Amino acid sequence: MLKIILFFYLFNCFLFSNEPITPIPQHVQVNQDKANLGKKLFFDTRLSADNTISCHSCHKIQEGGDDNLQFSFGIYGQEGNINAPTVLNARYNFRQFWDGREKNLKDQVASPIENPIEMGSNFPELIKKLNKTEYLELFKKTYKDAITKENISDAIAQYEKTLITPNAPFDQYLRGNKDAITSEQKEGYALFKSKGCISCHHGINVGGNLYNKFGVVHDTESTSLGRYNVTKKERDKYYFKVPSLRNVTRTAPYFHDGRTKKLKKAIKFMADVQLGRAISDKEINSIAAFLHSLEGDLPQGKE
Ligand code: HEC
Ligand code: HEC
Repeated sequence: MLKIILFFYLFNCFLFSNEPITPIPQHVQVNQDKANLGKKLFFDTRLSADNTISCHSCHKIQEGGDDNLQFSFGIYGQEGNINAPTVLNARYNFRQFWDGREKNLKDQVASPIENPIEMGSNFPELIKKLNKTEYLELFKKTYKDAITKENISDAIAQYEKTLITPNAPFDQYLRGNKDAITSEQKEGYALFKSKGCISCHHGINVGGNLYNKFGVVHDTESTSLGRYNVTKKERDKYYFKVPSLRNVTRTAPYFHDGRTKKLKKAIKFMADVQLGRAISDKEINSIAAFLHSLEGDLPQGKE
């Protein structure tokens, strides 16, 4: 028996260590009480100044964790100017936001709550408001010091940590089920590696672990300066966090400015501006098929 277990263990190590992409775990450990509270907050429009917008307004769990719009709408119908990324698997991104300005999920929470065109609130007011509701008891049960900015952020971050999408066909393939993906998808994966996409999109999130320039070979006419906004260093102009491609088939439109509606067009654009490579329609189709194999199980919605 032990020999068999050891064999499978070594087999798995061999399998994973050879691939530049690793599977999403099937389960993650979180503090369930905090995550439940965070889920309630995530779906609650009372977090916004006029009680109309929740985190979920722009990050719809069952629709890929974003809102499928070029730009999102916040309170009073105000439109943003950057595409909402998915919250699914965001825990695996090395930084949060396109320009990486927040280092983790917990620190990220304050930003949309305080952003005047997103939720337009502030913590003193929000805490005052929530203290008059059922949240007072709920927080007291979960956190010694009840409702604070720190605890609101912590609860929401705990919930977000549960938002993983395991069991994608490609992950099943990585775990050894060679029939989990089609031959076209296998071809697409081979092209994804041989064309060079893998040099930026790799790791557990097939992205999300480095910055790179949007437009390495050709100018992309980007209006946002990306990482430069944070560092003010010339060399960071037009650098963005390489986005995760997990569930990318569910998160159109694409790029930080949502300029591209169709995945195949986005693939062609990437081959051109990032790699300076021609790519045939057949190759684009195969890569798109491979990207479909990154669709994992979606977390439950509100109920
Ligand atoms: C009005 C729409 C809107 C609302 C409401 C909103 N977000 Fe976002 N979210 C965005 C946009 C747009 C971005 C990208 C901003 C950027 O990168 O500069 C984003 C980025 C994020 C990211 C970073 C993901 C990544 O990969 O970089 C996380 C995590 C996130 N939001 C969680 C939340 C949480 C939690 C709430 C509620 C407290 C929330 N959002 C409310 C639109 C929204
Ligand atoms: C040199 C690094 C690099 C290479 C190589 C690269 N990408 Fe990207 N990719 C990025 C960056 C950076 C972005 C985000 C650009 C932006 O929106 O500002 C991105 C965005 C994307 C998006 C849009 C994702 C979204 O959610 O908006 C897709 C799809 C994509 N890449 C696919 C590919 C494919 C397919 C290839 C190979 C043909 C490839 N990439 C090669 C760095 C790279």
